[in-house]
Amino acid sequence: MDRDNDIHALQHHLAEAGQSHLLRFWEELSVSEQQELHMEVKGLDLEELGQAFQKAMKDSSHLPGQEIMDAKIEPVPHEVLGSVTRDRAQLSAWEKEGLQQIAQNKVAVLLLAGGQGTRLGVSYPKGMYDVGLPSHKTLFQIQAERILKLQQLAEKQHGLKCVITWYIMTSGRTMELTKNFFLKHKYFGLKKENVIFFQQGMLPAMDFDGKTLLEEKGKVSMAPDGNGGLYRALGAHHIMEDMEKRGIGSIHVYCVDNILVKVADPRFIGFCLQKGADCGAKVVEKTNPTEPVGVVCRVAGVYQVVEYSEISLATAQKRSPDGRLLFNAGNIANHYFTMEFLKDVVNVYEPQLQHHIAQKKIPYVDIATGKLVKPDKPNGIKMEKFVFDIFQFAKKFVVYEVLREDEFSPLKNADSQNGKDNPTTARHSLMSLHHCWVLNAGGHFVDENGTRLPAIPCYTNGTSDAIQADVNHNLKDASDLPIQCEISPLVSYGGEALEEFVKDKEFHAPLIIDRSGVHELVKNGL
Ligand code: UTP
Repeated sequence: MDRDNDIHALQHHLAEAGQSHLLRFWEELSVSEQQELHMEVKGLDLEELGQAFQKAMKDSSHLPGQEIMDAKIEPVPHEVLGSVTRDRAQLSAWEKEGLQQIAQNKVAVLLLAGGQGTRLGVSYPKGMYDVGLPSHKTLFQIQAERILKLQQLAEKQHGLKCVITWYIMTSGRTMELTKNFFLKHKYFGLKKENVIFFQQGMLPAMDFDGKTLLEEKGKVSMAPDGNGGLYRALGAHHIMEDMEKRGIGSIHVYCVDNILVKVADPRFIGFCLQKGADCGAKVVEKTNPTEPVGVVCRVAGVYQVVEYSEISLATAQKRSPDGRLLFNAGNIANHYFTMEFLKDVVNVYEPQLQHHIAQKKIPYVDIATGKLVKPDKPNGIKMEKFVFDIFQFAKKFVVYEVLREDEFSPLKNADSQNGKDNPTTARHSLMSLHHCWVLNAGGHFVDENGTRLPAIPCYTNGTSDAIQADVNHNLKDASDLPIQCEISPLVSYGGEALEEFVKDKEFHAPLIIDRSGVHELVKNGL
């Protein structure tokens, strides 16, 4: 019988790969469960997987020690660096160039939204999360509205109707929910044909001996293959062809969880173009030597991101003559690629990218007992590629430094876990920034007695370093609640064009400024 032959072939295939245990509960499964497991296992390239596991384990045990890394690491050289604070005179030229590219439909944005968001701990994709802003907008909506606004700004400047195509990478675990969410919200005002979803690959989780784990008796434990799975997925789903058809020249890649992300930031794009770069990384200044953030640097002459744990504390503490940390280019997974570079990565370099190993606590079905085990310490590994591992292939790599308080506040953890990178900090950073935008545009906030609240000096546009340090210090205190102020991206992309709404006016918080006007929620009884 065909079915029996099929099963024998499957058994043989698994035995050769040392994975026979995957059929341990075969007899207990219903016919449809058997079919599903069969399909799942057939979809795995066990030979490639075995090789990837061996290589990743070998590479991870041969990582250069801190001493070797300390000797090879160099900071990003001055000539490839741009900065929103130190290069103020050039910002408007970069912005103009970026907007011109956008006006000519040459810019696409690419969202990495395939992660599982395990630390946040919700069952739906992170982009659907509402951090509790007065408007209750989700991360997806905020990003969509920034794209819409930028299209309008480019159109206004150049008189050309334009499109920023939005490519969204999801995974097997987030695709359906993400697509349905966009459908339900009518693509947040964007055109459906300019929002393109594609799915990254998945890899099985394994124990430390390379044995694939079962999530259920008839289901392999699968996880997305890391945000560097992007490059393989771009090839598998013919996304590069779509980009070519649309005449795209520049691509901005970013993560779903950064509430402040400047999607398709024209200044960043203009900077990279004017430098003639094929690959660029946006960074924020790392100010504390022990902050666990990867830094962009050169290792033996090659650009890469070095994790905090890979260098010694003494190296992490080194300072330049200006007092800043020597290795201070904090990676925020916010990248620029030219079309040509991305095509080369997808078509040529992708197979050279190594898998990184993350040791995790992975729930699994015990082969001996058939019981589901939820381990309290790491029991296995997930293999992931990283989006930034392609810096090494760039012919001209540049780095663009922006202010953290303007552009970076990621949502990683649940509120209950710890005080960092959670819904509260994300909400506060957005409202603090928007508060500053109102002050910069000449508006004021008053308390319930009509007394003006002290204006926090704004750190977004051209303040002195001394004031900046003071503001940073003040904002570090979690009890310092920001004034509740939210400005719709449909009104302002980066703080521009607010004078007509706020100049010389006084407001009570909570304040929302959107396309229908200025709303003081308490006064209006909302
Ligand atoms: P993180 O590494 O922070 O992972 O992803 P995560 O899934 O959001 O959260 P945890 O670690 O499970 O708690 C950084 C960015 O990379 C994307 C995420 O969606 C996020 O935008 N990502 C991560 C992918 O697109 N695919 C992956 O396989 C992993």
